[in-house]
Amino acid sequence: MAYEVKGVVARSKGAPVTIETILVPDPGPGEAVVDVQACGVCHTDLHYREGGINDEFPFLLGHEAAGVVSAIGEGVTNVAVGDYVILNWRAVCGQCRACAKGKPWYCFDTHNAAQKMTLADGTELSPALGIGAFAEKTLVHSGQCTKVDPAAPPTAAGLLGCGVMAGIGAAINTGGVGRGDTVAVFGCGGVGDAAIAGSRLAGAAKIIAVDIDDRKLEWAKGMGATHTVNSKDADPVEAIKALTDGFGVDVAIDAVGHPAVYRQAFDARDLAGTVVLVGVPNPTMTIELPLIEVFGRGGALKSSWYGDCLPSRDFPMLIDLYLQGRLDLDAFVSETIGLDDVEAAFEKMHHGDVLRSVVVF
Ligand SMILES: NC(=O)c1ccc[n+]([C@@H]2O[C@H](COP(=O)([O-])OP(=O)(O)OC[C@H]3O[C@@H](n4cnc5c(N)ncnc54)[C@H](O)[C@@H]3O)[C@@H](O)[C@H]2O)c1
Ligand SMILES: [Zn+2]
Ligand SMILES: [Zn+2]
Repeated sequence: MAYEVKGVVARSKGAPVTIETILVPDPGPGEAVVDVQACGVCHTDLHYREGGINDEFPFLLGHEAAGVVSAIGEGVTNVAVGDYVILNWRAVCGQCRACAKGKPWYCFDTHNAAQKMTLADGTELSPALGIGAFAEKTLVHSGQCTKVDPAAPPTAAGLLGCGVMAGIGAAINTGGVGRGDTVAVFGCGGVGDAAIAGSRLAGAAKIIAVDIDDRKLEWAKGMGATHTVNSKDADPVEAIKALTDGFGVDVAIDAVGHPAVYRQAFDARDLAGTVVLVGVPNPTMTIELPLIEVFGRGGALKSSWYGDCLPSRDFPMLIDLYLQGRLDLDAFVSETIGLDDVEAAFEKMHHGDVLRSVVVF
């Protein structure tokens, strides 16, 4: 028997989201149904609504969530009913060529639920990132559930399900930020600020926050930025060089996903430094780079899917750091809202008024 719940649906490109009745099937083999307790509004949800990810409308949005497992299907052993979990959108398969090489964070065959959630009329929904958690209940693959310490409130824990994990991981896992490094983070939204917090955790000596909005730069200081640059007022490459004895940074992170910003990150890194692209570009964007610089500057140009995280390894560890007071996840939560407020939250995100709006149930 399917569950009937409310969910936030994007029906067509650019159209405001609507609250719809959705049908969530009983979990099949390997699947779990989760009662969602909190789900953050990530820029990727807006990318979906704008048609920037793909055309598989209607989307059930929401993917940055924590909740409690309410039902499991046949053969599920990693979680039980009643477990408090963070949902992840890269449940690794353990068998593909990336997993076989011992690099499961690159898994090329991640798992999602096999069954579909639908609208009341039977129309199949595409859940954002295989999750769809702006809903009272959602159906996922059991591997998308990672059990964590229930002492962490869902508003904080859910953030690790996407943006905050992506940012922390972009710095620590992909960028390899270590003690004494210099780092520049372009774009100080939820993802960029998490890259800043992650750089601080890793012991970076200088963390330069770049944004076009002074409010974001103020918040970035609270996350651990040692310097800030408003790239509307000043050339960020020059400013970063001036702050690093003329050399540039060891790790430059683009948390916007825009060719002009990527170029700034490319130009702002030191010799043998690393550029990390964690912001998501849209399919029309292209970039041209002087190949001699790509070669001559050495180092690495990397992309970061989900901060190259392994949920089973990283979520419980980061929740422990949160509970010890070493990672302030609460600082990312600008407001808690209801399901009806997601469209307004997109507006606020678009205008830079919030770091994270989090839907609570
Ligand atoms: N790689 C991943 O796994 C992953 C995961 C989650 C989100 N993302 C992506 O990361 C990006 C950021 O997400 P978010 O939720 O932090 O978004 P956000 O909208 O909260 O933050 C974006 C920030 O970039 C700033 N910005 C915009 N244009 C700029 C420019 N030209 N120069 C400098 N700063 C600029 C904005 O002022 C804002 O502070 C999005 O593209 C999102 O889709 C990627
Ligand atoms: Zn795999
Ligand atoms: Zn996200």
